[in-house]
Amino acid sequence: MAKVIEALLAAMTLEEKIGQLTMAEGSGHGTTRDVQSAIREGRLGSLLNVHGSEIVRELQRLAIEETRLEIPLLFGLDVLHGHRTIFPIPLAEAAAFDPPLWEATARAAAAEASRDGIMLTFAPMLDLARDPRWGRIAESPGEDPLLGSRFASAKVRGFQGRSLSDPTSLAATAKHIGAYGAVTAGREYASGDLSERTLLELHLPAFKAAADAGVAAIMAAFTDIAGVPAHANVTLLRKTLRCAWGFEGVVISDYGAVAELVPHGVAADLAEAAALALTAGIDIDMMGDAYRRGLPAALARGLVGLEAVDAAVMRVLRLKERLGLFDEPYRGLSRDAPADDGLGRDLAREAARRSIVLLTNDGVLPLPPGLRRIAVVGPLADAARAMLGPWAAIGEGTDATTIADGLRLALPDCVVDVSAGVSIAGSDTHGIADACRIAETADIVVLCLGEDETMSGEAGSRAHPELPGAQRILAEAILDLGKPVVALIASGRPLIVPWLVERASAVLATWFLGQEAGHAIADVLIGAANPSGRLPVSWPRDVGQIPIFYAERPTGRPEIAANRFTSKYLDVPATPQFPFGHGLSYSRFVLSGLRSTTTEIRRGQHIEIAVDVTNEGPVAGEETVLFFIHDPVASVARPLLELKDFAKIRLRPGERGTVTFTLTSEAFIFAGRSLAPVLEVGEIELFVGKSADRGSLLRTSIRVIVAQDRLADQ
Ligand code: IFM
Repeated sequence: MAKVIEALLAAMTLEEKIGQLTMAEGSGHGTTRDVQSAIREGRLGSLLNVHGSEIVRELQRLAIEETRLEIPLLFGLDVLHGHRTIFPIPLAEAAAFDPPLWEATARAAAAEASRDGIMLTFAPMLDLARDPRWGRIAESPGEDPLLGSRFASAKVRGFQGRSLSDPTSLAATAKHIGAYGAVTAGREYASGDLSERTLLELHLPAFKAAADAGVAAIMAAFTDIAGVPAHANVTLLRKTLRCAWGFEGVVISDYGAVAELVPHGVAADLAEAAALALTAGIDIDMMGDAYRRGLPAALARGLVGLEAVDAAVMRVLRLKERLGLFDEPYRGLSRDAPADDGLGRDLAREAARRSIVLLTNDGVLPLPPGLRRIAVVGPLADAARAMLGPWAAIGEGTDATTIADGLRLALPDCVVDVSAGVSIAGSDTHGIADACRIAETADIVVLCLGEDETMSGEAGSRAHPELPGAQRILAEAILDLGKPVVALIASGRPLIVPWLVERASAVLATWFLGQEAGHAIADVLIGAANPSGRLPVSWPRDVGQIPIFYAERPTGRPEIAANRFTSKYLDVPATPQFPFGHGLSYSRFVLSGLRSTTTEIRRGQHIEIAVDVTNEGPVAGEETVLFFIHDPVASVARPLLELKDFAKIRLRPGERGTVTFTLTSEAFIFAGRSLAPVLEVGEIELFVGKSADRGSLLRTSIRVIVAQDRLADQ
């Protein structure tokens, strides 16, 4: 087939070549005449947001039967956390710390979407996010590069399956390369300014992991780093991605972002914008029409050469070839929909249960048997669409179970009264009296608070990531009744609610859990599922602490309460409300006996670190054990904690098991002063525990023995 695509390239006009580099939007289930004529004339190589077998088949037919070169189209869609079956949002799923689960949900979504004619998904989203003001934190795997990297490989494996040519696979797109999550003050599309080290150590590892896992495509970020927009960043897209990592797939622009190089202030017109983007390595121009309108002039003005166009076209054709489109342009469409065996829903429920994080619990949970009456109160109590969260592909609110529905079904002998009290973001407080009325007669109140699905995701930045509208007034009125209150926070980000944490009997992060949200929440509340989710982000107690993350570097003046001139705030503690990794269980896990196979390690060697875990609680459950390191003396100060691995263990009551981590000397390599990788001699502290709360961790140490002098890199 290589010959065929080379022959195709040789036969193409410039307009047809630019067509292959152009992705346009279809308009839902119908497509405009313009799109159809662009296809017929070979001016379009791919489409986004067109799905459904009929329309895909018809447009593909135009490309195959009515164009000069019969090159099939590529259809792309944001299948981020499900297609029709909607799974938890990525931030929630990250809380499961569960690569096989991440892979399984991606596989299921790929199988569903490919049947609808989709071949390319704009997922996984891998932007490291440490600022809950930024709405896209909802789509990300959180604050940690190792967690993000594991998420990346699992998702790529899941979406792409064993082979891209399998009609149930989707080509995955790792997005958005270029530290999109580092936008200034969490404001969407704002400029970012960060060091090369931060880019290298924090923002790129997940993309490297995706590239290593064979991801088919990568999307550039809308934003710039210190004045260099990702879409024009030669160092990032060519030197790092293509040369250093050997990435041979397709690089896709974000929506209209090539044309946005003009308002970005680095291109005077579309010709310059197109030349900059193509030179940097953007193969496909998604919307914005900059390649179509700008590239001919850019070539005529000598801003870019035809060989750059040809190389980009070859990458697009190669992707089509890998997807098997030249042999089977209607791939996926001929498959019959499987009988509804409920497996998709079971997986969605399991994923949702595992994503829930029990933040606090004074013993009110699991709900005791024999409850006679509960009140399900709050604007998220009966909100079906909100459960799906942002970017819910073709998910339907009507498929989602609400929290009230879930509880009604789970507690058939209990009266379940429901009242919203207030709307999600409105200021009207008239309904609070009704909510209090039902709460007063209930044994327990389940308080359903949070955001709706439009408050996070793209363009969903919030300066105050707190409960919107009049929800705090409602919550305080309910708390004042003195009943046991279980508070559920549905959101695309950690919400700052110290007063609620202080007063509620239990608080759970229930994120946006997808279509089975109501059932999964009920499972956890009644104890049919034991909560096992862990925070993939630090949860702030005050907006002034943002950005907040566990992997801080040491300061010369660590906090000492009695000494004013140490690193702290005068008005709030510096610690988060809940640290990275925090999450309670109905079991009680005790970690003990931390040991390592050796006290020294040399280059190329490995060590095993083991810890015993005992379930001293009354029910079976699953613990997530986190393994961190700290290099206390290095040529560049290293973070106080760095996650290097994690593992899960299931234990029955009274059972003890052992978790073993295997680390090679690679784990202790870091970017030295010149940013080249170094392995330095000296002691490394090893920590094992349940969260990034340093004080709670078990500690041992190991000595790295290398011939190289650690000062050599300075
Ligand atoms: O894939 C998305 C991207 O994440 C944000 N802008 C629009 C694209 C296509 O929908």
